[in-house]
Amino acid sequence: MTSVFQGRSLLAEKYFTKEELEYLIDFSLHLKDLKKRGIPHRYLEGKNIALLFEKNSTRTRSAFTTASIDLGAHPEFLGKNDIQLGKKESVEDTAKVLGSMFDGIEFRGFSQQVVEDLAKYSGVPVWNGLTDEWHPTQMIADFMTVKENFGKLEGITLTYLGDGRNNMANSLLVTGSMLGVNVHIVAPDSLQPSQEVQDLAAKYAKETGSKNMITSDVDAGVKGSDVLYTDVWVSMGEEVDVAERVKLLKPYQINMDMLKKTGNPDTIIMHCLPAFHDTETENAKEFEKEFGIKEMEITDEAFRSKNARQFEEAENRMHSIKAIMAATLGNLFIPRV
Ligand code: CP
Ligand code: NVA
Repeated sequence: MTSVFQGRSLLAEKYFTKEELEYLIDFSLHLKDLKKRGIPHRYLEGKNIALLFEKNSTRTRSAFTTASIDLGAHPEFLGKNDIQLGKKESVEDTAKVLGSMFDGIEFRGFSQQVVEDLAKYSGVPVWNGLTDEWHPTQMIADFMTVKENFGKLEGITLTYLGDGRNNMANSLLVTGSMLGVNVHIVAPDSLQPSQEVQDLAAKYAKETGSKNMITSDVDAGVKGSDVLYTDVWVSMGEEVDVAERVKLLKPYQINMDMLKKTGNPDTIIMHCLPAFHDTETENAKEFEKEFGIKEMEITDEAFRSKNARQFEEAENRMHSIKAIMAATLGNLFIPRV
């Protein structure tokens, strides 16, 4: 065994240890430095990478594509309408075929079970590029961004506002707890994390000393925060009454007043993107017509403020996905973390 990571999949954060996540974050920072200095890092020379997407993507797809190419690998996009998966061929059969031709597989889709089965049957590393439950590759980029800004993770307070039951809230709560970050989930009672996710986070928080808070009280939740984080109010594939969601989540919108409520002039704003911060998209124009709302989870002013870090965070998706792929597929000498 040359590496604690070799041959492993990244399906959810809970399958890794605190030290392993920290290693991936630091390796991401190292690869970012190499990229900026133009130093080659072709750890996956000659490898083939399958990119399976059941849901749309800009960042994750672009990051896996450019990261693969920088690492010397060949990425191949396989969209849901291009392949037989689910319609004419089972996950098990598809996994066996892909595993015989590709060296690694990225999957973005609905069901966590599908990504777990792809890993089980393909025999190659599988990386979860987002499911309804978790968004683990986003976590390495996000906590890398936090570390870049504050020089540390332990003791930082990250407050997530919005739909507290979605993949982002789940991943932030659990990963933050593993890393010693205090995570506040500020959401209406009906949109707070499931008991199962809360229990998992509480188990880690006990080990690392994270002080978590799950609340519907915005003032109490944001006070003292180093990071305010938000995500779309309706996730991909969710079938909900949008008017109801808008009404429920409006008090949790990130705006300049909320930023002041942290009492901390250095608070940064993060967002996994895409964001509804203006009416420059088809969907936003529709929401404006139907609900009279021009901005949803974050105002344009907050989005463009000096506190905002969402575009650095987006760039970090590439560096961190590179680290994840190189560590799990690159035959690197990492005997311990
Ligand atoms: N943050 C994120 O996953 O973005 P995409 O949906 O564009 O991949
Ligand atoms: N919660 C969002 C995250 C997008 C990156 C979604 O699943 O659509």
